[in-house]
Amino acid sequence: MDADIEKKAAAAKSLDWIRDGMLVGLGSGSTAAHMIRELGKKVADGGLTIKAVPSSDETAELAQNAGIQLLTLEEAGTLDVNIDGADEFDAKLQLIKGGGGAHLREKIVAHNSKFNIVIADSGKQVERLGKFKLPLETIPFATKNIMTELDGMGLSPVLRKKGDDVYRTDEQNYIVDIDVFEQNDLVALNHRLIQIPGVVETGLFLDTTDVIIMGKGEDTVIFEK
Ligand code: A5P
Repeated sequence: MDADIEKKAAAAKSLDWIRDGMLVGLGSGSTAAHMIRELGKKVADGGLTIKAVPSSDETAELAQNAGIQLLTLEEAGTLDVNIDGADEFDAKLQLIKGGGGAHLREKIVAHNSKFNIVIADSGKQVERLGKFKLPLETIPFATKNIMTELDGMGLSPVLRKKGDDVYRTDEQNYIVDIDVFEQNDLVALNHRLIQIPGVVETGLFLDTTDVIIMGKGEDTVIFEK
């Protein structure tokens, strides 16, 4: 089944959780983009009034074009619900995110949301996280030394590029992708990674998710905590 059909199905279903007057977190990536366009249609129809906080510059532009009223996180404070995509998820509702380089703001928005919904196609479901390389957002000043340290930990770090240039996040940091497939204790690993000065955030979302809506053909399957 075409992954995009499943992304659209999951995105459409997630709007069942949105109520009038809610403050909504908007994730990043292609699945979140489907959700934002659908949400924009509901707002334009006049049936729904919401305000939203985007998790990336790209999402902000998309949401603005869709006619969704945006707030900064500071203005919003705590959000009612956040809807975002994922690169991988497992049976414990743990995620790898950051394939699009937005996981720092995504994690901040998720942390500041009362309820977190993840929308994904069925190709994102895995038995064990880590086939997808784990993104780390790093401060440029420290990145070379961080990569040496990660190499010493056996994590095979790769600096993300965009064409010939080093990839820059919305916060102007770098992304280092690492291999965590052989790691058995992701909680401990995450803790260790975040302790390295200059690692700003990891793409491991281990305890933020309340519901995963997975597209399965044109239908959806829901996984709850
Ligand atoms: C953005 O950095 C990511 O965390 C996305 O949420 C993730 O890459 C999912 O993207 P797709 O919906 O495009 O697969």
